[in-house]
Amino acid sequence: MKILGIETSCDETAAAIVARDDDGRGEILANVVRSQLEEHAPFGGVVPELAARSHVTHLDGIIARASREARLPLTELDAIAATAGPGLIGGVLVGLTTAKALAAALGKPLIAVNHLEAHALTARLTDGLAFPYLLLLVSGGHSQFVLVRGVGDYERWGTTIDDALGEAFDKVAKLLDLGVPGGPEVERQARRGDPARFKFPRPLLREARLDFSFSGLKTAVRLAAESIAPLSDRDVADICASFQASVTEIVATRATQALRHFASALPGVPVQLVVAGGVAANRSIGGALRQVAEMAGARLVIPPAPLCTDNGAMVAWAGAERLALGASDGLDFKARPRWPLDAPGMAVDAA
Ligand code: KG4
Ligand code: ZN
Repeated sequence: MKILGIETSCDETAAAIVARDDDGRGEILANVVRSQLEEHAPFGGVVPELAARSHVTHLDGIIARASREARLPLTELDAIAATAGPGLIGGVLVGLTTAKALAAALGKPLIAVNHLEAHALTARLTDGLAFPYLLLLVSGGHSQFVLVRGVGDYERWGTTIDDALGEAFDKVAKLLDLGVPGGPEVERQARRGDPARFKFPRPLLREARLDFSFSGLKTAVRLAAESIAPLSDRDVADICASFQASVTEIVATRATQALRHFASALPGVPVQLVVAGGVAANRSIGGALRQVAEMAGARLVIPPAPLCTDNGAMVAWAGAERLALGASDGLDFKARPRWPLDAPGMAVDAA
């Protein structure tokens, strides 16, 4: 089957066409992503209204391009999938409404995809990973551990009680005037800095729960920066390196606990850890997780960076996985600004 996937829940306008064979193997036929980074840069963050308007302007052309690159007319698709939440509601509405219009005009089924499920299932597209596995999703909007038991079958083991990890990177970048996107810029600065110069807190780390907290850390970074202002280049690099060391230790410690929990909750099952979301591209965090996985005897899968950040291929793939189980959604499906992975109704009830 060949599926179109549309992603418009944040600041990427994306469309992709993915094929899935009867054995469950996936192939990306086209994957077009247009980042709105430059449009939001003057405002220091994503402006929801601006994002929605930009999706309206560009989505048609991006779908047409995906169709061209895949050499597949839209009439030959088997279904249309789109992110239906969670996310910035204006943008989600643009993508979902477009998908509904295409589904109606082409007479194809619509699949309303949960954006988090799309991140969660990407490792099956890239690595053919079998269920179950532990997912660590770390992006600009989410930081959570999720047990992925099957399509539509998720159990959230931990989440952030305040900021998401990518958000913390972005806020640190902003207070240091490093520009956007913050995460990669902080990582670049950290490479030439001293990670031991500042001892930033590791919030919640003494507690046994699998939750994160990053807002206190961000405040500590701000106070440290203010206490030595004006900042030299060296100071900025040292702050970034110390911040990154702190979050790396937090993520590594939590992942160790989560893998231990996986092994005891699912005895005899191979331990597998998938890392997804934009922060998965961070080499310090990735390196630490590689060590953690090795110590735990776990298989670690980090999909390639362009498939870790928001894209249409993951949405098309999630749509394909659901369609393969017989799922599809009505044209009255409502966009959802909030939609946790373990919400009721995620399970596929085949028609
Ligand atoms: O998954 P994503 O593209 O968008 C969503 O939030 O859904 O993730 C973007 C986030 C941003 O906060 C960005 O700063 C962060 O991922 N990020 C990074 C790196 N690359 C992207 N954070 C740390 N290190 C990086 N190399
Ligand atoms: Zn995302």
